[in-house]
Amino acid sequence: MKLNMLYSFLKADIDLIEKELEQAISSQSPSLRDASLHLLQAGGKRIRPVFVLLSAKFGHYEIEKVKNVAVALELIHMASLVHDDVIDNAELRRGQPTVKAEWDNRVAMYTGDYIFARSLEYMTSIENIDAHRILSHTIVEVCVGEIVQIKDKYRYEQNLRDYLRRIKRKTALLIAASCQLGAISADVPKEIHQKLYQFGYNVGMAFQITDDILDFTATEAQLGKPAGSDLWQGNITLPVLYAMQDEQLKQKIIQVNEQTTKAEMNEIITLLKRSDAIERAHALSQRYLNRALAILKELPSNRNKKALRDIAKYIGKRKY
Ligand code: IPE
Ligand code: IPE
Ligand code: MG
Ligand code: MG
Repeated sequence: MKLNMLYSFLKADIDLIEKELEQAISSQSPSLRDASLHLLQAGGKRIRPVFVLLSAKFGHYEIEKVKNVAVALELIHMASLVHDDVIDNAELRRGQPTVKAEWDNRVAMYTGDYIFARSLEYMTSIENIDAHRILSHTIVEVCVGEIVQIKDKYRYEQNLRDYLRRIKRKTALLIAASCQLGAISADVPKEIHQKLYQFGYNVGMAFQITDDILDFTATEAQLGKPAGSDLWQGNITLPVLYAMQDEQLKQKIIQVNEQTTKAEMNEIITLLKRSDAIERAHALSQRYLNRALAILKELPSNRNKKALRDIAKYIGKRKY
């Protein structure tokens, strides 16, 4: 089953958002436009706009209004990817060269800022102070999450709490905000949009944990970005934290640094995959997903809720 089959009833609205995204990044400056379009047209799951739309369906859904929020959330995500690829020195994203690889770090800096500012412009159509507060808070937290990740590189004494706090900031809060802001833009009552926020938070945690597992288990062709590079770059993710609970494996892992060779890295990855680290990481992701599903039970039943439930279940099994 493909992800977009789970919300096929939204197809017309998603297509509209796709067109609007293209509009949003059309700029008079050819470099800003080309670099932004390059990332947009490379694809991507557009999962944040989907959460915006499905959450708005719990209220007075007006596509012309909610569209702007969906576009804004995807743009913030895109901006953070352009910057993230600079930080992670990544060559490939969505199966295409990254902006920093195709152009350079300077172009990537301003392309990220540009996309980001366009997103704020789209949000101005929402006359609700809370919505803007939530959005600004989320962006601040994404920045903090990314900078903490730089500081935490190769810091092998970090613990599970450090990891969870980091992924909350860099990923889960944006998905939570997508749900909540979609709902707020459709005047969904507070007790419901707060639940949608909680749902998004738990799904977002599971989403990033899965991403971190896939870095070990998937291929570059599946991911559209290099696999197996997190640990090499010193990014201590959940499977690594679990693997380090094995004393022998820990001794090997803490030797990893920028000079570690591909062969040494492959050996460690093989050992990690043979340990119970991946399975345990899956189990924690599943706990977040179960929490998300439990929260959904408290919401009114309709096909949007069913789609949210299907997406949450899909995230537990996703391969890319
Ligand atoms: C990638 O996000 C960054 C993470 C938060 C793991 P997505 O997996 O949603 O990326 P695209 O938009 O589909 O490319
Ligand atoms: C996700 O970080 C990007 C942001 C949330 C800004 P990662 O570095 O883990 O994601 P990928 O692997 O580049 O997509
Ligand atoms: Mg990163
Ligand atoms: Mg990255």
